[in-house]
Amino acid sequence: MTLSSRMSRVAPSPTLKLIAEADRLRQQGVDLVDLGAGEPDFPTPEHIKAAAHEALDRNFTRYTPSAGIRELREAICTRYATDYGVTFAPEETIVTAGAKQALFNAALALFDEGDEVITHAPYWPTIPEQVKLAGAVPVIVQTYAEDGFTIHAQPIIDAITARTRGIVINSPCNPTGALISEDALIAIADAVAKRGLWLVADLTYEKLIYEPGPDNLVKVLADRLRDRSVICSAASKAYAMTGWRCGWAIAPRQVIASMNAIQGHSTSNVSSITQKAAVAALLGPQDSLKAMLDEYRIRRDHVWQWLTEDTRFTCVKPRGAFYLFPYLAEVLEPCGVRTTAEFAEALLAESHVALTAGEGFDAPGFFRISYATSLAQLREGVSRIHDFVRHREQGRVGASVL
Ligand SMILES: Cc1ncc(COP(=O)(O)O)c(C=O)c1O
Repeated sequence: MTLSSRMSRVAPSPTLKLIAEADRLRQQGVDLVDLGAGEPDFPTPEHIKAAAHEALDRNFTRYTPSAGIRELREAICTRYATDYGVTFAPEETIVTAGAKQALFNAALALFDEGDEVITHAPYWPTIPEQVKLAGAVPVIVQTYAEDGFTIHAQPIIDAITARTRGIVINSPCNPTGALISEDALIAIADAVAKRGLWLVADLTYEKLIYEPGPDNLVKVLADRLRDRSVICSAASKAYAMTGWRCGWAIAPRQVIASMNAIQGHSTSNVSSITQKAAVAALLGPQDSLKAMLDEYRIRRDHVWQWLTEDTRFTCVKPRGAFYLFPYLAEVLEPCGVRTTAEFAEALLAESHVALTAGEGFDAPGFFRISYATSLAQLREGVSRIHDFVRHREQGRVGASVL
């Protein structure tokens, strides 16, 4: 079968096999602890669901403008004005099927065949894959657990070459939970402006920051790099709306027009009902967001504490999003496996705990634990991980004695 050459550049998600196996076990009725989820476990808040019911009742079920209804584009501007003190016009926004489509539209609109696009690792795998789908080449700058996976400006600026066309920053970062500081973003923004590049900021987890400080990334971009930056975000994680598929981009009008041209010929508008729900999410009460964040914080602190009781699991405490990203290379060999991917496979098969191996994030030796699940599940999951390691070690010691 001859597929397009594009397909030879794109890798399917490396975690798909594990997800399929976890599903198979679940369907067999196995008592699975799933720490792999990349989405909130909370239901969508009631007032948001009510807005969707109302949209249906009023037969708001037709095509909308491809870039989204005016009311929602205005609501995005209102939210950002309230939260960050910045003024955007509705024409500087587009409503997309999640942040994923916002990022993809941006990649297609901005990057050409052979361009280099810099991003930081460990990364959310879709970022480099979308760059490749656009024909460009991802250039990866490492961040390190030793300093909290901090996204430093200088290594990113040093990676700029004559072929660089853009930089993609993800803060809070999936999978590390790291944030970029305002100072680092300013340094990168200045380099981007000086060299006429593009800066794409994936702020999908912007509402999930545990100890909010004075840093205002959106204002930095609006004030210093308005004509060269694209902000991508979504209702997905903040309002527990992953299945509704609602994200957005904020960018210069011409970029928005290009993204809209792409979207107009691919998916067109986001579901009309979803859009009405998103207006309620953005303009309605924000207290459910705070309640969810408070709960995530409690879970983060507990699961971090439990996991690191085995001191070989070293783990940065994440500052945002809802993932722990511990290092476990030290226990691989004692457990009789060579890689974190093998560890995750064996853990699933023997102890029925699903988590995501670091290989998928360009970070072998690490794994990702999602704490978007109940404390009881987290407690059980961590106990099973510790027991798994203990049993495997004992088995190995026994085997070597024999
Ligand atoms: C870093 C990051 N960006 C973007 C997305 C896409 O989110 P959405 O569901 O809104 O498309 C995700 C989803 O997991 C993510 O982790």
